[in-house]
Amino acid sequence: MMELCAVVAAAGGGERLGAPVPKAFVELPGGTLLEHSLRSLAQQGVSFAAVAVPPGFQPPRPVAFPPGMEAVLVEGGPRRQDSVLNAARLLPPARVVLVHDAARPFLRPGLLAELAAEALRHGAAVPALPCPDTLKIVEGGAAVRTVDRSGVHLVQTPQAFRRDVFDAMLPLYDRLHVTDDAAIAEAAGFPPRAVEGSPFTFKVTRPADLELARILAARSAP
Ligand code: C5P
Repeated sequence: MMELCAVVAAAGGGERLGAPVPKAFVELPGGTLLEHSLRSLAQQGVSFAAVAVPPGFQPPRPVAFPPGMEAVLVEGGPRRQDSVLNAARLLPPARVVLVHDAARPFLRPGLLAELAAEALRHGAAVPALPCPDTLKIVEGGAAVRTVDRSGVHLVQTPQAFRRDVFDAMLPLYDRLHVTDDAAIAEAAGFPPRAVEGSPFTFKVTRPADLELARILAARSAP
């Protein structure tokens, strides 16, 4: 059986980026955000990806899939979790399912092997980074309260799920309202293990993130 397969969520509009095309189709040196993300996954052993893309959107050119990776495109839904569910229905049998944001093009070496090992042992695993900044509640322009940040982590993708756990999560995608897949694993009774995330695995969200991603992509472009 295949070891790693992936759902890639690429169906968002990316309103906060203000780009003329949906975010996953924004070009960096060496390809679009989506193509960089697919390449990062393939380099670490993902051989199949189901990619959720914006409904009705015609990319200006066909998506270039990395060598050795089989991929299918499917229309996404209104929420990220709807996109993930649409793509999840197309996955082949595999020991571990990864769910990844196309908007995170860079993964640290060795990440997928660590995630897969933890997911196989414990059911689910996520990359997480301790929050480095002070957290405050801001109301009406005033910082009214400081939040205790001990234990607070920033959680990234890919998130990894053993196949039986992922299958148990699927019926919950319609019922819950979540911002990541790990929240569904938690609700299904499988609190994810945290492995070390990376500052390079930031999500391209605002124009400054895109500037950074372009610099990093240029550095590693062939
Ligand atoms: O908007 P945001 O960057 O937080 O979305 C995270 C990822 O989820 C992006 O890669 C985006 O393309 C994807 N997404 C999706 N379907 C949606 C909304 C977001 O696949 N309806």
